[in-house]
Amino acid sequence: MRYMTGNEIRNAFKDFFESKNHMILKSFSLVPDNDPTLLLIGAGMAPMKKYFTGEVEPISRRIATSQKCIRTGDIENVGRTARHHTFFEMPGNFSFGDYFKDEAIAWAWEFLTDVMDLDKNKLYVTVHPRDAEAYDIWKKYIAEDRIFKLEDNFWEIGDGPCGPDTEIFYDLGADRSCGKPTCGVGCDCDRYLEVWNLVFTQFNKVGDEYVPLKNKNVDTGIGLERLASVIQQKESNFETDLLYPIIEKIIDISEADYNDPKQKTAVKVIADHIRAVVLMISDGVEPSNKDRGYVLRRIIRRSVRFGHVLGIERTFLSNLVDVVIDIYRQPYPELMDRKDSIKSVIEKEEKQFRANLKAGMKLLNGIIDESDGVIAGMSVFKLYDTYGFPPELTEEIAQERNPEIDRPGFNECMRQQKERARNARIAP
Ligand code: ALA
Repeated sequence: MRYMTGNEIRNAFKDFFESKNHMILKSFSLVPDNDPTLLLIGAGMAPMKKYFTGEVEPISRRIATSQKCIRTGDIENVGRTARHHTFFEMPGNFSFGDYFKDEAIAWAWEFLTDVMDLDKNKLYVTVHPRDAEAYDIWKKYIAEDRIFKLEDNFWEIGDGPCGPDTEIFYDLGADRSCGKPTCGVGCDCDRYLEVWNLVFTQFNKVGDEYVPLKNKNVDTGIGLERLASVIQQKESNFETDLLYPIIEKIIDISEADYNDPKQKTAVKVIADHIRAVVLMISDGVEPSNKDRGYVLRRIIRRSVRFGHVLGIERTFLSNLVDVVIDIYRQPYPELMDRKDSIKSVIEKEEKQFRANLKAGMKLLNGIIDESDGVIAGMSVFKLYDTYGFPPELTEEIAQERNPEIDRPGFNECMRQQKERARNARIAP
């Protein structure tokens, strides 16, 4: 296995699928184009849903991209595990009614074992228990005792194209295992790293129904940062060249001790979040109180708060923009033109939040000290309304010291505020 940079891996992926007659497209924007079901693009296939459903004729029946993605469903895990991210990149190849399982599996295997030169003896796969076809194809490449049948091998993300999938895992070694007797392929711990998911997109999910699609399709996705961690032989995604330069810059600014677990988490959170922030703003998202603007605001404010954990007392996030752009200027050259405006959006948002951060933290710590295990909805609302603390942030800070927040109480305060605002507008 030869060391490759993140950029080299992405390029090798594109070259490989170009040699298999795919049209190579650049990443679509993180902001969905005309798709009210999504706030942000969270998978390589998401911008091409209409090609899968047949609503729109694809420009090619074989496409490959390396798609920018944002997922925030498990944001609290970011910084606490080796592989959770808000922003990540997903190289993927797609067939719209063209090739199917045979080629998808053969090419994934060829790319990983030949081009990436991964050790075959460290690879395992899972298939859906009723997908005998995928199982039989895999037998051509890998010993049967390395193929596992798992019921949750079915991929879907809300409504839209979906189907059974087969996943490829890399064994990072027994010393990365959680040690539970049940630990094996598919375990949530760090030992078996899922590097590639191949979905055989045969259905369109509409509400509770799975409507068969006219075409049989393929939708695959690699975790670029994960594959880089394997190729670069790093402990986690955070030590790869797609993230570590940001970590070094944060350490430089904060003098954080990367060996101290609490500080390490804070550094990793910020490094992860600043990538998401830069790429979202570059794609036109602005911080606000709703929809994707709120997602961005939440990510920025969570970063500022973790900066506070590291003792950073002044605005610092915009100082990380250059290093993020250095990492991504090759695939996303537009970042260079947008650099100044990205910095100013970040700086403005950080300043605004910082103005209230100390006072808000003091108030929250006082509330936690006096709480009986639950923080009242009214307090959560005050922290939101007066100090700009997103409720998720209050919840995360509270939970570090155990108390829960009263979410229904907060929602009720929000409802009342909206009603007051509405009444004020219609008052004579
Ligand atoms: N769409 C599939 C995923 O996101 C490949 O895992």
